[in-house]
This record gives sequence, structure tokens and C-alpha cells, in this order.
Amino acid sequence: MHVRRKLVAGNWKMNGSLHQLAELSAIAAAARGAPGVDVAICPPFTLIASAVARGGGIPIGGQDCHHQPSGAFTGNVSAAMLKESGARLVIVGHSERRAEQQESDAQVLAKAEAALAAGLQTIVCIGESEAEREAGQAVDRCAAQLAGSIPELSGDAELVVAYEPVWAIGTGRTATCDDVREIHAAIRGALVDRFGDAGGRIRILYGGSVRGDNAAELFAVDNVDGALVGGASLTAEQFVPIIEAAAHS
Ligand code: 13P
Repeated sequence: MHVRRKLVAGNWKMNGSLHQLAELSAIAAAARGAPGVDVAICPPFTLIASAVARGGGIPIGGQDCHHQPSGAFTGNVSAAMLKESGARLVIVGHSERRAEQQESDAQVLAKAEAALAAGLQTIVCIGESEAEREAGQAVDRCAAQLAGSIPELSGDAELVVAYEPVWAIGTGRTATCDDVREIHAAIRGALVDRFGDAGGRIRILYGGSVRGDNAAELFAVDNVDGALVGGASLTAEQFVPIIEAAAHS
């Protein structure tokens, strides 16, 4: 039985400003008060260096990276560049990128490989759409995304999986604990099948309308090793209760 520390990571998406980095001091204070919990914030690229400087030691990350280290890829940022800017982690394969930028499993896989090779903790997102869930295909869809976008484990950087059902993101509709239990168990099974004992150590986060008032019940579900939080990570007022729920779980 593996003991996995909870990880509570905030994804600011295309939100935030220099002014909003003031939220980081209270988040850092809460993180110091919860030594058993890992806390991270992923702001837009433009805020990473400032967030590292003002983040009170909280790991700061990116929300995407290119799979190549450098080159003629206008508008993109590589994993090595993120690392140089002070980032310690990166999210890849978020459903908003899979949908809006048409990112395929193969592209997400390449990004995850590049991120791990650059030494970044790498959060790979998977999750079914509402239509897939209604068609009874949620487990199969997640298994296919997992198989297609999770890299081999190599080096020292940590791989993390985030299960984010698309229909629960930004909608206020959280998946039920039973739904989460079923999918996280399936993810765990697939990780152990593929990686053996190491698959038991990989943290699996839940994401999708996590808030202070539902975090505790989600964290009590087997194989929920933390949360990837969107809207509620933008202010300390909403994010700190999620950190505290993780600390008490
Ligand atoms: P919300 O917490 O706003 O639903 O967003 C979840 C998410 O997409 C985190 O990556």
C-alpha cells in the first residue's frame, strides 16, 4: 500500500495579472501550515517569473509546453524555457487544449516526454466528454487517453495524472464520488498494469468544479491524491479551504 501525499494544484488558465499575484502570500502561508500537502500554482506564462519571485516558495508551473526544445514554432514555449523561467511543473493535455488546439494523444505524449526530460513535474490530463459519459464510454475513453498520452517513466521528474471530466470543468457540476471512485480505480489499475509497483506511486488528481465545500468528500475517495483546481484557485479565499481539506484528509 503506497502512501501518496496530496497535491493541490491551481490552474489559473488565461486569468490573473501582476496584481493578482498578491494572492500567493496567503496561499503560501496556508501551504506552510499544511506540511503534509504539496501545493502548486500554474499561472499564464507571462506571470511565471514574477510568481516564482513572489510565491513564497510555492512551486510555480506552466499550463502547456511545446515538445521541441527550440525552433521555428511561433507562439510556443518549450519545457526547457519553462524550467529556465523558474517553473517546476507543467500541465499538458488539458481538455481545453485538446478541444481548442486539437491536441491529439500523440502530441500530448510528446509534450509529456519533453517535460519530464526537462526535469519538470508533469501533470497529464485526461477525461471524457459529456456525450461519452452518457454513452457509457467514460472508462474506455479515459483508458484510451491514458494509453495514448502517458509516457514511459524515466529520470527523476514526477509524472502525475489528472482526471478531469470535461462536463465538470467550470460548470459547477462536480462528478459524484462514485463516478470519481470508478474512474480513479480504473486509472490506477491501468498504471499498475503498465508500470508495476511504480504505477502505485503515481498521484491521480481529480479536477472539475472542486471547491472548498466539496473537496473533503472528494479527497476521501480511494485513489484521489489531490485536485487540479481552476476557478477556485484564483483567490486565496477560495483556494485555501481546499488546501486545508487536503491537510485533514
Ligand atoms: P474548474 O475548477 O474551474 O472547474 O476547472 C478545472 C480545471 O480545468 C483545472 O485544470
